[in-house]
Amino acid sequence: MHPPPATANVRVRRAEISDLDDLVALEDRTFDSDRMSRAQYRRHLDSTSARVLVASANHRQFLGTAVVFFRQRSSVARLYSLATRPEARGKGIGTVLVEAAEVAARQRRCRALRLEVRTDNHHAIGLYERGGYLRIGFLESYYEDGADGWRYEKVLR
Ligand SMILES: CC(C)(COP(=O)(O)OP(=O)(O)OC[C@H]1O[C@@H](n2cnc3c(N)ncnc32)[C@H](O)[C@@H]1OP(=O)(O)O)[C@@H](O)C(=O)NCCC(=O)NCCS
Repeated sequence: MHPPPATANVRVRRAEISDLDDLVALEDRTFDSDRMSRAQYRRHLDSTSARVLVASANHRQFLGTAVVFFRQRSSVARLYSLATRPEARGKGIGTVLVEAAEVAARQRRCRALRLEVRTDNHHAIGLYERGGYLRIGFLESYYEDGADGWRYEKVLR
């Protein structure tokens, strides 16, 4: 096994059809509920209301993904999903993906990026708070399994 690469080699790009297997495999490994299906990913790849981003090392090794949703006539974008491959976590890839999601939202002239996170997801909450996200709401029994969530927002400048 090679050690996971440092983020210097990591690039974020728009997902393509050839990424579908990796996207679905990571989704299934990562989330027990509220999963996105292959068909949903497939639709989002071509949609103007979504941007699926992929982080990869040296343009090859798939490391993680972020999914951003946009709504017509809304200046608030939503970071719907974020996941790094388990072997590659804790190396800054999630942070790079969130920054790329912010760039995508700014390109769409959004004034803010919002997200929801489980209240017990301390790694993700730390990442978001370090990135300047502010807690703006509590979401009781928000997830399919009944878990509570926090809503966070970052105003994009
Ligand atoms: C949340 C998640 C995307 C973070 O991805 P990542 O690539 O590990 O992100 P980063 O390395 O940028 O930051 C992770 C932080 O978690 C901590 N961390 C350290 N080792 C870790 C590990 N092995 N696994 C997870 N987090 C770790 C670190 O504190 C790190 O912050 P730091 O900058 O202080 O070191 C990733 O843990 C993941 O895919 N989790 C499962 C899916 C999920 O919870 N998604 C978010 C839903 S809202």
